[in-house]
Amino acid sequence: MFKIRIWWSILPDFKVRDMSLADMGENLIEWASRHMPVLNQIAKRFRNEKPLKGLRVGACLHVTKETAVLIKTLMDGGAEVALCGSNPLSTQDEVAAALAKIGVKVYAWRGETTEEYYWCINRVIDFQPRVTLDDGADLVTTIHISRKEALENVLGGTEETTTGVIRLKAMAEKGALKYPIIAVNNAYTKYLFDNRYGTGQSTIDGILRATNILLAGKTVVVCGYGWCGRGIAMRARGMGANVIVVEVNPIRVLEAVMDGFQVMPISRAAEVGDLFITATGNINVIRKEHMLKMKDGAILANSGHFNVEISLPDLKSISESKRNIRPNLDEYTIKNGKRIYLLADGRLVNLAAAEGHPSEVMDMSFSNQALCVEYLAKNPVMKPNVYDVPREIDESVARLKLRAMNIEIDEMTEEQKKYIAGWEAGTV
Ligand SMILES: NC(=O)c1ccc[n+]([C@@H]2O[C@H](COP(=O)([O-])OP(=O)(O)OC[C@H]3O[C@@H](n4cnc5c(N)ncnc54)[C@H](O)[C@@H]3O)[C@@H](O)[C@H]2O)c1
Repeated sequence: MFKIRIWWSILPDFKVRDMSLADMGENLIEWASRHMPVLNQIAKRFRNEKPLKGLRVGACLHVTKETAVLIKTLMDGGAEVALCGSNPLSTQDEVAAALAKIGVKVYAWRGETTEEYYWCINRVIDFQPRVTLDDGADLVTTIHISRKEALENVLGGTEETTTGVIRLKAMAEKGALKYPIIAVNNAYTKYLFDNRYGTGQSTIDGILRATNILLAGKTVVVCGYGWCGRGIAMRARGMGANVIVVEVNPIRVLEAVMDGFQVMPISRAAEVGDLFITATGNINVIRKEHMLKMKDGAILANSGHFNVEISLPDLKSISESKRNIRPNLDEYTIKNGKRIYLLADGRLVNLAAAEGHPSEVMDMSFSNQALCVEYLAKNPVMKPNVYDVPREIDESVARLKLRAMNIEIDEMTEEQKKYIAGWEAGTV
């Protein structure tokens, strides 16, 4: 108790659930760090070079053990950090406490109301960040809509996820974006691994922790065959499920078909699915008319960024009653007598019902984040726009990851480099 009171009194600038969880949080962070060799190498360099000395970083990210390793890396580089969650249900309270203990201004706890969620974002803005780190663009949009005075301090920012990049590009196109953002999501070493293998595995993990159902033999409907949907479909099939894909983009539909999946509209898939997983970044993908067709016992889960993919208002409007069965699993009894089960309130199931992506993939995503913060600090005159991660950063993350995995790769010979760069040589 004594220890807790001391931490609260010397570090008043944070709000977390329970500081007595800090020791447990430290163990989790240490465990994540063991599996994040690339970020550790960057941290080592940052400790020597201090490239972020005195830089105030405001971060709105899922407060997980992997995020903690990123935050500590930025602090190793000399940054001061304020952090809030990027989803009301994704904060790991142990991790938030451990970060508060080492001086991070953390405003995050699991189960925030919408009002509390934005209160936390506003505390990060009060910190007057020079660089913003966002996951879904709620921090950037709040600054632009209701805290414009903070804009004058901001040098630039980064964005972690597809939905955030889409929102920010829309802002840039309309001339509303007032500072440069690097779209970390669009680095190859991010989306090819994080969105596909990270979301693929952790979505299944969240669903199993919430339900403990057997996937073998189930009909699993995956809505969206983007990078996340591909990973989810691949992993569900790997566990013996019959996977149906629902898509709106004809090229991705073709890809799903040739990857060996059945494809059909959601109106037909609704009748046959046992488990529905959305990962589209779009709104109202599963609506009332689909829910009414579903089998008794159908399970709904979302892995897209916002909790709008499964229409919760529609589900409520057709339900007679709702009861909680176990953590992250609610039963809705529909007026037609059937029961539908919703996981984690329709929020991203891998973070709300499990722990988010495994550390090994976040190693690459967050190495891009750390190097992009350094890039912004060293290139302070970029115009407001959404930028790709510089290719050198993307490739260096891949090389460092391969080295950490003890995998050697080939180099082109001088002759091959010349051949690839030339046009004269043809059929021989
Ligand atoms: N759960 C996580 O940890 C996690 C990780 C990364 C990304 N995300 C989020 O997941 C979502 C998808 O990301 P992504 O990288 O796969 O995006 P993506 O753009 O690669 O894929 C989305 C796919 O959904 C399809 N789609 C759009 N509307 C649809 C509809 N009504 N019905 C069926 N399909 C539809 C699109 O055509 C596209 O192919 C985003 O919200 C992203 O921010 C979540």
